[in-house]
Amino acid sequence: MSILSKTWLQAWLTLPKLEFTVLCWEDWEDRTKIVDTIMERYEKGKIPIQKFELSLFFADSPELFHLVDKWLLIALQNGVKELVLHFTSYRVPVLTILAAKSLSELVLHDCILMPVSLSSGVVNYNSLRKISLSNVTLDENMLQTLLNSCPLIVSFILENCSGMKVLKIKSDSLKVLKIIQYYKICDIDASNLVSLDYTGSEIPELNIARESSQLKNSKIILHCLPSFSSLINTAWFCKLGKFLSNPSSCSEVSLCLFECDEINMTDLQMDNIGSTGWVDVLNLNMLLMNQIIECPTFVDALLWSCHPRRLDLISFAIETVTRLIDCLMYMKNSSHSTYSHGWNNQLKEIKAFDGKNQLLQLRSEELAKRITEGQQPYFILDW
Ligand SMILES: *[C@@H]1O[C@H](CO)[C@@H](O)[C@H](O)[C@H]1NC(C)=O
Ligand SMILES: *[C@@H]1O[C@H](CO)[C@@H](O)[C@H](O)[C@H]1NC(C)=O
Ligand SMILES: *[C@@H]1O[C@H](CO)[C@@H](O)[C@H](O)[C@H]1NC(C)=O
Ligand SMILES: *[C@@H]1O[C@H](CO)[C@@H](O)[C@H](O)[C@H]1NC(C)=O
Repeated sequence: MSILSKTWLQAWLTLPKLEFTVLCWEDWEDRTKIVDTIMERYEKGKIPIQKFELSLFFADSPELFHLVDKWLLIALQNGVKELVLHFTSYRVPVLTILAAKSLSELVLHDCILMPVSLSSGVVNYNSLRKISLSNVTLDENMLQTLLNSCPLIVSFILENCSGMKVLKIKSDSLKVLKIIQYYKICDIDASNLVSLDYTGSEIPELNIARESSQLKNSKIILHCLPSFSSLINTAWFCKLGKFLSNPSSCSEVSLCLFECDEINMTDLQMDNIGSTGWVDVLNLNMLLMNQIIECPTFVDALLWSCHPRRLDLISFAIETVTRLIDCLMYMKNSSHSTYSHGWNNQLKEIKAFDGKNQLLQLRSEELAKRITEGQQPYFILDW
């Protein structure tokens, strides 16, 4: 094509998006030569670069990392907007990246973010809007430095990063936040957040502005898989209740629970007085709940914390599901009678539907049987 058409040749030589994947076995010099040649040509010709993506596999030589530093610098000088780096043990020169004026998106996989002392003059005016870190090693200071020096950041993704004990996220500009981190305590302070997708073992502490009008359209998804070390007890439900009542409404909560301690409903209600959490969809994974369901206050505590409008269940044990459905029916019955939990919001009605949204009028064991067969009936709860 280049022989046939000058236009094509020109277009080919000045492509604005550069994506390189190099397997650095023994002869990495040969393998990286082509990248080096291309990058030098872009440097000489000052050819604009829009996206620079580099994936190096089996790269561990310091000389190679020098080369990467050089390419990175060329990309930044040539106005790169989107930077994607994917390789192990590379210490990303974060100050150089933060000093770049043109960059709007930074994606790092498997790299190491060098510690930066706060006195080392982090530039406060870079244009980064999106940052995504997965499997990156960094510490608490680095994370906060990163967020502090990106006043325009709107989207932040953090997945399986190591090096931090406590996850603290503080940013006023952040709108979209996605976190997949297990075994971490998490504290989120983002007054303008509209979307939070959180997967972890601890329920995060959330601090977002209640008055914000954007909150009406906010979307919060919580996937919680408690670790074996953190027992489900009164304190856990207090935390869940607090999390859910923080924004006025929560879209989706998925819980996978096992092992539950005695729950004191009085304490739970006292703790969250005046604030009620509402959840659009509660996905309850009951695969390990055979014992929990025996705990007399568990269902009370769960419903009181979540107030789900729709309930979806996963289980293989008919007895466990039957127990749960009976509990729900009993609660519905009690709300009509004089018996009351002292709740402000009582369960008025519960209806089961099948996959085609047809109303099911079945006994609890029959419903439970369908659930364990994977037919996915769901429940609509009217509060
Ligand atoms: C995550 O990083 C570690 C060490 O940096 C590495 O050993 C591991 O293979 C990476 N995992 C994935 C899924 O990339
Ligand atoms: C998470 O990171 C650890 C080490 O940092 C690594 O061993 C593991 O493979 C990673 N898991 C995923 C799902 O990337
Ligand atoms: C729950 O806790 C309160 C005090 O916080 C106590 O008075 C009450 O006896 C407890 N209830 C149960 C069932 O342990
Ligand atoms: C609920 O009330 C209905 C009749 O109103 C009754 O048939 C059913 O057994 C009750 N269920 C429970 C779990 O109390």
